[in-house]
Amino acid sequence: MRGHEVCYLKSLIRDVYPFFKEVFASLGLEEELWSNLLGPATIEGHSDIALPCHSLSSSLRKSPVDISEHIVSLFSDDILNIAKVSSKNGFVNVSATSSWIEEQISYIFADDRLGVKIDDSRTFAVDYSAPNVAKEMHVGHLRSTVIGDSIVRLLLFKGHTVYRENHIGDWGTPFGMLIEHLLDLGEDKAAKELGVGDLDSFYKQARSKFNSSADFASRSRNRVVLLQGGDKETLRLWKILVSESMRYFNDVYSILGVLLKDSDIKGESSYHDLLPIVIDRLTKTNILVNSNGADVVFPTKKWLNREGGEMPAIIRKKDGGYNYSATDLACIIDRIERLNCTDLVYVVGTPQKQHFEMIFDIALMAGFMSDKHNATHVNFGSVLNQNGKILKSREGNTIKLVDLLSESVSRAEAVIIDKNPNLSPDERSKVAKMIGIGAVKYADLSTERSKDYIFDWDKMLSLEGNTAPYLQYAHARICSIFSKSDIPPSSLSNPIFIIIDKEEELLAKRLLLFSNIIEDTIINYSPHRLCNYLHSLASSFASFYENCPVLKNEDEKIIKSRLALCDLTSRTLKLGLELLGIDSPEKM
Ligand code: ARG
Repeated sequence: MRGHEVCYLKSLIRDVYPFFKEVFASLGLEEELWSNLLGPATIEGHSDIALPCHSLSSSLRKSPVDISEHIVSLFSDDILNIAKVSSKNGFVNVSATSSWIEEQISYIFADDRLGVKIDDSRTFAVDYSAPNVAKEMHVGHLRSTVIGDSIVRLLLFKGHTVYRENHIGDWGTPFGMLIEHLLDLGEDKAAKELGVGDLDSFYKQARSKFNSSADFASRSRNRVVLLQGGDKETLRLWKILVSESMRYFNDVYSILGVLLKDSDIKGESSYHDLLPIVIDRLTKTNILVNSNGADVVFPTKKWLNREGGEMPAIIRKKDGGYNYSATDLACIIDRIERLNCTDLVYVVGTPQKQHFEMIFDIALMAGFMSDKHNATHVNFGSVLNQNGKILKSREGNTIKLVDLLSESVSRAEAVIIDKNPNLSPDERSKVAKMIGIGAVKYADLSTERSKDYIFDWDKMLSLEGNTAPYLQYAHARICSIFSKSDIPPSSLSNPIFIIIDKEEELLAKRLLLFSNIIEDTIINYSPHRLCNYLHSLASSFASFYENCPVLKNEDEKIIKSRLALCDLTSRTLKLGLELLGIDSPEKM
């Protein structure tokens, strides 16, 4: 019996390979001349795999068309079990037979992991979300949270060890003014403002007092010194800022249903003690130099400033304060030496591209990491409004994320009332949450991450197109097919698949691609690839369902086979959405 491999095209190539070998041997053509030519067909629907004969013309002294026709004529009937072979325009086209597809689909059906292998385990640190204390968490942090969380889920599913690192901005000079503002307001009032997420106005008030009052500014500067020096009372006040902001961030995380926990918080402040060590180790490797009073490193790759001068990474400022870069270097040391990570992943917006390139470069120069480690900046674009500007509230402020998410849930509720008025109010509110939150997450995930995307309520909540509600609806529809039949999915163990119709075959082939798509999504840290796949799967399910009667069929065997295809589709959609961090309601 032939085993199942990662991707059905790879399995198909493996299965037909010996037949090609025999045919080419009879033509006297060496294996290396043709073996790499056999690959996936470029146009879906033409065939599954193809072998272009154009490069064989000179060796065989015939036209590509003649070669391909001759090759096809040499194939014995044996291959018919596996694939049909034909020729067109100088290509040998190979299409899997139904029986071969049936066999492959049976393997996947019987596997809870739907054919996805467990990888050799590596250890990842995934740095994501990372909002800043006493500052509004903006749509960029939302995007980092959603993409990062999906990457964590995918890596865990592949069997890796994953550390979630929430590198919150909880340290630095602004804390002087924030603490002074907290004292002015009174601790209780300040805590209240922060805890409900009025972070933007808190920060702005502090900033404006800093700019307008010399006395406030000087108090703030003294406060920074006290904070850096570890003054107890100052630290106590600082902790209020951190914990009240975290209370708000945690509200957002819980509405979003992400994996992040308090124990994942590794804010900038937690690297404080490592900073002198960073300076020490950079000094020992002779790469730290003094430039205008600051401690800087010139990376191997050259970055130029506006005047055309070489740009260094500033590690410690003139006033002795450490920079963002110093903290990130400390992070690398911590993640590699304490956590033993092999892979460092940073889900942070594109504007920080240069920062990460410099940091990775310096970490290699200083020996904090080696070529055994992979460091990747998983960058992403901005979230824009309909006019192509950064998404803001009507008043021009940063949008409060809890408001945005609750708006999505109420809009989803309106969509469901329209679609299925019979749902009980209780069910409706549960489903509305899954759809509303799913829609926002999916909008973030389904755009290729390096691109900006336009935030559009109608589009993301639509039941048509590449949206979460469309996929959730496809899943719920399959659940309702089962509830209409008297055959529960659990009774379908070891089903015999019968693939007859075109739409059925296309659906089956799409189902076989799942494991391959998961690999591809992880290698590129690109959840949009999984989204595109799930969308194409749901579309081929729709045309299957339209053209191939499932329950209204005379033949009991076909009913069972088609129900099994329905079940496998719903399991694939559910698992795929789960890996994106999105729920699949059974009714909607
Ligand atoms: N807090 C930063 C910001 O809001 C993001 C931190 C990203 N992670 C890091 N290790 N630098 O821009």
